[in-house]
Amino acid sequence: MTGGNGGSLGDAARAQALAARLFTASLGAGELMTVYLGIKLGLYAALRNTPASAAELAERAGVASRYAREWLEQQAAAGFLDVDDPLLDPAGRRYTLPGGHAEALLDGDSPFAVAPLTLMPVGGMGAVLPLLLDAYRSGEGVPYGAYGADFRGGQAGLNEHVFRAQLPGWIRRALPDVHDVLRRDGACLADVACGTGRSSLALAAAYPGLQVSGFDLDEPSIGLARAATREDGVADRVRFEVADVARLRRERCYDVVTVFDALHDMPDPVAVLAGCRRMLAPGGTLLLMEPRVREEFHAPSDETERFFYTVSLLHCLPVGLAETPSVATGTMIRPERVRRYAAAAGFTDVRIVDVAHRFHRLYRLA
Ligand SMILES: C[S@@+](CC[C@H](N)C(=O)[O-])C[C@H]1O[C@@H](n2cnc3c(N)ncnc32)[C@H](O)[C@@H]1O
Repeated sequence: MTGGNGGSLGDAARAQALAARLFTASLGAGELMTVYLGIKLGLYAALRNTPASAAELAERAGVASRYAREWLEQQAAAGFLDVDDPLLDPAGRRYTLPGGHAEALLDGDSPFAVAPLTLMPVGGMGAVLPLLLDAYRSGEGVPYGAYGADFRGGQAGLNEHVFRAQLPGWIRRALPDVHDVLRRDGACLADVACGTGRSSLALAAAYPGLQVSGFDLDEPSIGLARAATREDGVADRVRFEVADVARLRRERCYDVVTVFDALHDMPDPVAVLAGCRRMLAPGGTLLLMEPRVREEFHAPSDETERFFYTVSLLHCLPVGLAETPSVATGTMIRPERVRRYAAAAGFTDVRIVDVAHRFHRLYRLA
């Protein structure tokens, strides 16, 4: 129809477009959950380098064979696995995990590692949806610990490649004076809100004379950090402590303090920044890594911004609201806000370090 019904035709077209878009999103969400099953049940690990029939996969991974068969068929239909001959009867088909898919699904240090992007939304945010409904109604928050082991594990893996493969290069190239300080034998660094310690360990590996102290509120994260320290063989130079940095009283002894991907989650970021400032030796530097959101609100926006907004709604904002009072920052921490928090904490010099990363913005505070 035309003429007077132009508006309703527009509505119909928009309804159809939204339905198509959300069908694709729903399919993606469902497939993500099947990937979660594959990771958690060790199905991909059992297929690595060794193709399997449904019965063989069931035996290898310790799952029921009827489920193994359905999962294998779905994974092949989705294009995640290859099947040798689809025309064979179900029991005779064998399935292969392609090498590139094995890397993305199973290698935590790969630049293409996808397990965190599965564990965090499905196992972490998915598990707290009932709490989120309550929180949205009451205005209260959801504590970080409630997101559980999958979220913690996903968070650990999320920035692993950045910390190991990119951060040392950023410091060397864009912050040569900080690089020179960190290279000194006995230099001291405090990694605040270190989570499971991936950044602390990566910096200790990059600078063999560096002493690193990691601090975090979350006890299970610190337990995981300590275990990883023993595995890395750097226990003589890296130590971890459960501590609220807003309340920590330390001598002004650290040459460098770092806060990675955490300030926007904190109810009182100014108190934490002030705590960091108290920890810094005279002339020391604070490095802050925060999401690279746009300078201003923009809608409709690009995929990066849309991704950050979903994380904010489902995790960062509720975590920030888990204590009162809270400034309720959320993931969308724009540079102007960082400057405001830094000034309130007594920092006089705030610079954005040019690292040109899609998801991260690095700040230098002094
Ligand atoms: C999103 S995680 C980031 C962890 C880690 N830096 C990373 O990049 O993987 C935020 C962390 O901040 C910690 N945190 C929040 N407030 C804190 C505070 N006042 N003192 C110490 N840690 C804090 C949480 O326990 C959590 O582990």
